[in-house]
Amino acid sequence: MAKSRIIVDCDPGVDDAIALLLAFASPDEIEIVGITTVNGNVSLPLTTRNALRITAMAGRQDIPVYAGCSRPIMPGHPREPSVHGLDGLGDLGVADATHAAEHQHAVDFIIDTVLREPGQITLCPIGPLTNIALALIKEPAIADKIKSIVLMGGAVFSPGNTATDAEFNIWIDPHAAQIVLSSGIPITMFGLDVTRHATLTKERFDRLERDATPIMKTAIAMMRYYGGGDPSLHDPCVTAFLIDPDLFKGVDATIDVDCDPKGAYGRTRATLVKSGASKGQPVCHVITEVDDERLFQLIDRRLRLL
Ligand code: RIB
Ligand code: CA
Repeated sequence: MAKSRIIVDCDPGVDDAIALLLAFASPDEIEIVGITTVNGNVSLPLTTRNALRITAMAGRQDIPVYAGCSRPIMPGHPREPSVHGLDGLGDLGVADATHAAEHQHAVDFIIDTVLREPGQITLCPIGPLTNIALALIKEPAIADKIKSIVLMGGAVFSPGNTATDAEFNIWIDPHAAQIVLSSGIPITMFGLDVTRHATLTKERFDRLERDATPIMKTAIAMMRYYGGGDPSLHDPCVTAFLIDPDLFKGVDATIDVDCDPKGAYGRTRATLVKSGASKGQPVCHVITEVDDERLFQLIDRRLRLL
């Protein structure tokens, strides 16, 4: 399989951190062209600080970080404190980076990169979709030049985790999600339907702890903190898919996002589409199954390489 050249758009966030570390450990399958940050689990200054801390922790200061949008397109509802801790990485005191984010805005970086390399770049949003939506609005010409979007977000056939029917990334910015999911760009969607099966069990923690490297020890401590509030490793499913797509199975569907503040705000509803029968509607490949044991074996094996 050809190497994926990706932009990770993220809101670190502990599971975002694990997704990035997994990508860093997989240079044969993934080249991260840049990391863009967005308001999500914690505020934009913190998600940007955390993206820098994660690259520094892994010695990957060569990967540029670009700060993006500081709030959703429309003001959302008040939020609960994050399961990722006040600093977004489990309040462990992970060392700050000595390098800074780039001056260019994330939205402009996404636009410039896609225009410079048409058909080559896969966007991997694992936080709210604000940056991606703004890039599509600011420069519509990128839509047919993005190779594909592989995203974590939504809950199509299962309950939400932030409201009854809404998953966090979509709930924070449903208007952005509607823009992206109806764009017609080839999209592979990792919703809670599948990521809920990527569960951190005691047995899996014990396995990770065995002969853990220094970076793994930090990652495990972050996951232990985060696991207290959410035991699922949502975002690493996106990176794992780029490494070994056979871990997953899915169905094709059109996705509708509820943007009604008085309705099921942030809900993602699917209408199944028989393959090849999309009648020109924007179809997403919605991942519904994962071999979770093989997924954790992959995460364990690759994190040991850092
Ligand atoms: O609902 C899970 C998603 O919300 C993950 O991306 C997590 O990092 C949070 O952003
Ligand atoms: Ca995230």
